[in-house]
Order: sequence, then C-alpha cells, then structure tokens
Amino acid sequence: MRIVVLTGAGISAESGVPTFRDADGLWEGHRVEDVATPEAFELRPRMVQEFYDARRAALAGVEPNPAHRALARLEEVLGDDLFLVTQNIDDLHERGGAQRVHHMHGELLKALCRACGSRLAWQDALVDFPPCPGCGLPELRPDVVWFGEMPYGMDDIYAQLRTADLFVSIGTSGAVYPAAGFVQLAAGARVRTLELNLEPSEGSHFFTESRHGRAGDLVPVWVDEVLALVGNPG
Ligand code: APR
Repeated sequence: MRIVVLTGAGISAESGVPTFRDADGLWEGHRVEDVATPEAFELRPRMVQEFYDARRAALAGVEPNPAHRALARLEEVLGDDLFLVTQNIDDLHERGGAQRVHHMHGELLKALCRACGSRLAWQDALVDFPPCPGCGLPELRPDVVWFGEMPYGMDDIYAQLRTADLFVSIGTSGAVYPAAGFVQLAAGARVRTLELNLEPSEGSHFFTESRHGRAGDLVPVWVDEVLALVGNPG
C-alpha cells in the first residue's frame, strides 16, 4: 500500500509548538506577514532573523509526541511506500524516528545563502549575519519558505499524490496553498483520502473520511490499523 501523509502544525501542537491559526490569529505574537514574507525580511531583516532564531532555539525545549512516533513506526514497515511531507519547519518527525521527511516549507535547522544558494545545516543564531561557509558573504537567511515563495519538491509531491493508494492529512487547517489543494488533487486521481484533525479543516468535505480529535490519540490508532492490514512483521 502506498501512502502519502501530509502533516501541519497540529501534529506538533501536543509537543508544545504553537499552531498558526488557532487562538489569536498571531504566530508567537506576530502577524504572519510581518515575519514570514520576503518583503518583511527586506524591511526588517534583524527582526525576522531574531524571530526565527527564537523559534530555532525553542526546538531544544520540545519533544516529539506519540503522533510523530507512530508515523516513524509506519515508515519502518512501509519504507519508500510511505511519502511523508510536512509543512512544519520543526524537526520533530526526525526526532520521532522518521528518516525520509520532505519539508515542503523548509527547515528551521537549515540556513540558505542568498548569495550562493547553499543550503546548510544550521543550529546557531543568524541575527548577526555570520559569513556563509560556502561563499563567505553575510547573506544567510532561514531556509524556510515564506509566503510568495515556491515550496520545495512540488513535482515530486504531485507525482506521489497521483499514484498513491491513500492520502492522509494530519493537523492542518487547509488554509494555505498549495498544500490545501492536495486533497482535491488526490481525489481527482481517485485516491482515497483521510483527514485526522482536531476539527473539520477548511477542505474537510473533500475527504473520503474525516476523524476529529487530537493527533496524539488519532494517529497511533490509524497507524495500527494500517499495520494490521499490511501485516506488521514486528
Ligand atoms: N491534534 C490534531 N490537530 C490539531 C491539534 C491536535 N492536537 N491542535 C490543533 N490542531 C489543528 C487545528 O484545529 C488546525 O486545523 O491543526 C490545524 C493547524 O492549522 P494551522 O495553524 O493553520 O497550521 P498549518 O495548517 O500547518 O499551516 C499551514 O501556514 O503560516 C503558514 O507556513 C505556515 O506551514 C504553515 C502553513
């Protein structure tokens, strides 16, 4: 069975990473467009760097939850038949044990050089614009995809969506394209679709099946169902 799983902020919520659209409409006290656009970076580079430096530092204080771990168990059995794509920029899927994670919105633990295009593993602060290890220029920015920029790996994602047996969307509001359109693309290719989310998402009616509740409860149960179907060697 070939499965495409899309995750969003809701899967990391129980780990203590705030989601984007649940409470006050702000992301850690900021309007998303004030920190997550190329224009914001041009206007207020230090403020944007400080914002992402704080998010990066905060990763040290959070841990993966049962939903991340369950998807890693699924990957262990399905291998390349599981295509795990996340909108999240945290590293909780990896720390939960997943080895093939497609970060369509980039990663907090990477920096991107605006001068030479290098993408580098990065743990430290960027606010003082350290030199790029590749070209020496002080042009590093967080390797995250801002509004108006092209998400990573879209061709690969679309190819996987069209040929999967099942598409599962976990913990995402369905408010931000292109990810919000994955369910319709999959449905158009006659792929079965399942939503696992705290509440109905904006595109909930497009799914073959929706289950509502906490990811930490729903995802392990669903993974056990799949493993029972495909024959869990463990
Ligand atoms: N379990 C399951 N779902 C949850 C939980 C939970 N414990 N807590 C919250 N949710 C659900 C919410 O009900 C909501 O529908 O997760 C969803 C989170 O939605 P958003 O905050 O909009 O996050 P996401 O869909 O990942 O945002 C997409 O928007 O700002 C951009 O680039 C950013 O990747 C992000 C994109």
